[in-house]
Amino acid sequence: MQLFASNIEFYNFRNYSDNTFLLDPKLTILLGKNAVGKTNAIEALQLLTSGDSFRSPLTEELVKLNEEQSSISLAITNEKRNIETKLVITDNKKQFYLNGKKTNARGIRGILPSILFNPDDLQIVKGAPGLRRKSLDNFGIQLHKYYSQVKNEFEKALAQRNKILKEDYIDLNLLEAWTDSLITHATMFYLYRTSLFDRLYPYIKEIYKMLAPEEVLDISYIPSFTSRPKQEDKSSVYKALYDNYKEVKDQELQRKVSLFGPQKDDICFYINQKDARIYGSQGQQRSIVLAIKMAEVKLVQEMLSMSPLLLLDDVMSELDSDRRDALLNFIDNSVQTVISTTHLSYFNEETLSKAQVITLEK
Ligand SMILES: Nc1ncnc2c1ncn2[C@@H]1O[C@H](COP(=O)(O)OP(=O)(O)O)[C@@H](O)[C@H]1O
Ligand SMILES: [Mg+2]
Repeated sequence: MQLFASNIEFYNFRNYSDNTFLLDPKLTILLGKNAVGKTNAIEALQLLTSGDSFRSPLTEELVKLNEEQSSISLAITNEKRNIETKLVITDNKKQFYLNGKKTNARGIRGILPSILFNPDDLQIVKGAPGLRRKSLDNFGIQLHKYYSQVKNEFEKALAQRNKILKEDYIDLNLLEAWTDSLITHATMFYLYRTSLFDRLYPYIKEIYKMLAPEEVLDISYIPSFTSRPKQEDKSSVYKALYDNYKEVKDQELQRKVSLFGPQKDDICFYINQKDARIYGSQGQQRSIVLAIKMAEVKLVQEMLSMSPLLLLDDVMSELDSDRRDALLNFIDNSVQTVISTTHLSYFNEETLSKAQVITLEK
């Protein structure tokens, strides 16, 4: 039975002192002028569902200025179950709770996954490759509990190897041991990431077709080695990474950093076979990002047999009316959504009549 977020409480969280919002099982609109706390509320919802904030804040930034302690909690319910996720910050330390029991970010992930779309995401197509990797990885982390484990292990091996490469006198035996460890972990992480990409890709393509019927969107995952192996399994990826390492190893000693592996991969979008980063109009790039977010919702529905919580932070003003309508039609009835906005004029009468509108003031 579908779970939904029913109520969120804030205590000394960012600009909030002591507030509670009741959330609609379908659509909640957070309405207010600039700096009233819309994004702060979206951030709290993301923290309590994914364990992370897109702002990557320092812990102290989450606590209201001049206060010592802060907490936020979210009731997640259906007819049968009542779950509470909670985050308490004391002495500059974060502590998560699940139904009153201490846990970590991983412990609350996956109960009600969330998909966030904010104006920064509009950079996904055009911005640095790191944004595209992060977008995919942040999604993977919520979908599959081993995704973050595999990613962490890879990142640890990468950090260790980079530390050795940074040293004035490099112990080549030690470097070799870490090269082996890095290739092993990079192989696993690469396989997790590309299998997620391969599942998401058809949905993105299909949704883009709906947004722009005249255009064909193709997306490629581009590894640090030249191209994806035809038969992608542990041994072929290990070999591709090893060959890649042999090519770059002299350069690595000069540049003092690892130059192969998934931290160097990229994702490329093509519209009618032209690179969208270079040739795509702003509208086309926006449609791609919108399609990615909708595809993520669809994939959660397919893989976890539940709908995620969709968090749309101030994106209505960034989309034209066709894309806004497509988004509102998509969420209608299919996914619980919280949208923040400065104006209600972006919504039609029908949508407004069904939504819970929370007006925020300073
Ligand atoms: N730790 C904090 N303590 C007090 N106020 C904060 C804190 N962090 C952010 N704010 C305030 O929150 C407001 C911004 O809230 P935000 O949710 O980003 O606004 P918006 O409604 O425009 O999305 C700003 O006025 C900012 O100063
Ligand atoms: Mg905002």
